[in-house]
Amino acid sequence: MGDVVTMDDLTNDEIIEILDSAERLVPVAKGEVNLPLLEGKVLANMFFENSTRTRMSFETAMKRLGGAVLNFSSIGTSVAKGETLYDTMQMIDGYADVAAIRHPRQGAAQYSADAVEIPILNAGDGAGNHPTQTMLDLFTIRQAHGSLEGLNVVLVGDLRYGRTVHSLSHALVRFGASLTLVSPTTLRMPDEIVSDLRSHGAEVTETESLKDQIAHADVIYMTRIQKERFPDEDEYAKVAGIYKLGASDLSGAKKAMAVMHPLPRVDEIAPSVDSTVHARYFQQAFNGVPTRMALLCRSLGVKVPKKVK
Ligand code: NCD
Repeated sequence: MGDVVTMDDLTNDEIIEILDSAERLVPVAKGEVNLPLLEGKVLANMFFENSTRTRMSFETAMKRLGGAVLNFSSIGTSVAKGETLYDTMQMIDGYADVAAIRHPRQGAAQYSADAVEIPILNAGDGAGNHPTQTMLDLFTIRQAHGSLEGLNVVLVGDLRYGRTVHSLSHALVRFGASLTLVSPTTLRMPDEIVSDLRSHGAEVTETESLKDQIAHADVIYMTRIQKERFPDEDEYAKVAGIYKLGASDLSGAKKAMAVMHPLPRVDEIAPSVDSTVHARYFQQAFNGVPTRMALLCRSLGVKVPKKVK
């Protein structure tokens, strides 16, 4: 019921409602207002793969709302003894009220959602989806531009293995954005996703060149080449470092253009961009807290008050 495995689990109205709730929760996310909406509730953070922001912002979100967090990592647990995902998730069903799960295998979040009673939030399944990241990305775009409609969004980098852009592109076309997909041909957005985007009536352009896209972009969303998903190191070496954005590249950009990145960055965005008006990626990482607060409340059936003080 409260599962969020892909963006298809949320209607456009629900997305807007979550973004609005997240906006009201910003003072709580910052620790300026105490609002223990989730007191007595337990979140299981199930991370079978590396994470900094996703795991920690889920934890901060839960704790700022008065809830508790069980932190699981595949290191130091019975996974090393050969326990299956199914069995591990059965335990969590009894220990927690909601779980965020990240797993290297595509489909693992849906598998978990089918295996347990508690709501599952997909925190990244292999090269599949990353819907809670998409929610904070949408929050950040709305913050920068006031609305999601009619924007030119340029998605750059590893569109094949990057799960953030799989979920984000789908959500953006539902809100009427035009997309430009910039990648080397070997890392193109998978065909079935491009067909899905076009089936929503979206204008979708594919290219290998980033430089030509900067002047007309409202958002440039950079991504890391997903080294860990390459079957062959040599293939990675061919595309490593292919797209790099520096402050001097942005001189012709629109003033309100937002440079975003789910992070971690490797070398896609030079530190010189950090001090420009375009840099949004650290704010974006913070936005994970209020957005995940709103998502946790939804999954647990807790209403966010209309006024938060
Ligand atoms: C992303 C992920 O894990 O997919 N990171 C994140 O959640 N902020 C992007 C990445 O690892 O490149």
